[in-house]
Amino acid sequence: MSNVPSLEDLGDVDGLSVLVRADFNVPISNGEITDDLRIRAALPTLRHLLGAGASVTVCTHLGRPQGVPDPAFDVAPIRAWLAEVVPEVELLENLRFDPGETANDPAFVQQLIQGHDAYVNDAFGASHRAHASIVGPPKFLPSAAGRLLHREVEVLGNLMTSPRRPFVAIMGGSKVSDKLAVIESLLDTVDSLIVGGGMCFTFLKAQGHSVGSSLCEDDMLDTCRALLAGPKPIHLPYDLTAMGPGGKLFEPEAGGEIRQIGV
Ligand code: 3PG
Repeated sequence: MSNVPSLEDLGDVDGLSVLVRADFNVPISNGEITDDLRIRAALPTLRHLLGAGASVTVCTHLGRPQGVPDPAFDVAPIRAWLAEVVPEVELLENLRFDPGETANDPAFVQQLIQGHDAYVNDAFGASHRAHASIVGPPKFLPSAAGRLLHREVEVLGNLMTSPRRPFVAIMGGSKVSDKLAVIESLLDTVDSLIVGGGMCFTFLKAQGHSVGSSLCEDDMLDTCRALLAGPKPIHLPYDLTAMGPGGKLFEPEAGGEIRQIGV
């Protein structure tokens, strides 16, 4: 079991106002949520708190607006979804409409916690960010991990301490720099690592391949070379479908194939 405080550790929340940080960063197309998995995943926490008599205010980020209201990242579709399923819950405006969120501004933290008696973090996908809604409230309010975050921490904890082997991790994401600490930590434990997503191009370039105009962090090439030279195998894509204006992006490894799609 992890030693992260759980909802039960908050004690009796009957009559209390609880601020829940969720990760409702869901895909939305033409105002419609196209995958509501992240919202459904938070329901056990929301229902537990409501059932225990708390009033619940949820906050989330959506996309990456630049600290100002942006209709493209309006949480209205999420609010409508919640109104159908858990109407008692209030959803605040997109946290990232305020520059204080990503800047971890103390004034924005105070604004967030105002009127709340306790804080619950159920935003596993955002918990690596030192943003106001993640790191601020626990300094001032009794705090706990929601059901989802608690379960994720437990599963990850078990994987890092007593995994079944062979243990292979698959990582995606766009930037090596964002994930370096995780990559290094995983390499201590796993038998091998598979790297996909946008960050594979920095590794591929470090191996000497041309990556065209693909996402690439040139200042991480030496780091990637050192990781690739380490004792644990790091597997990279060798069979890519590359979209570009023409010309090969890089040579595949033996057996691999590049299908080039011109635009
Ligand atoms: C995600 O979708 O990965 C999380 O919601 C975090 O989003 P972010 O990378 O914009 O902080």
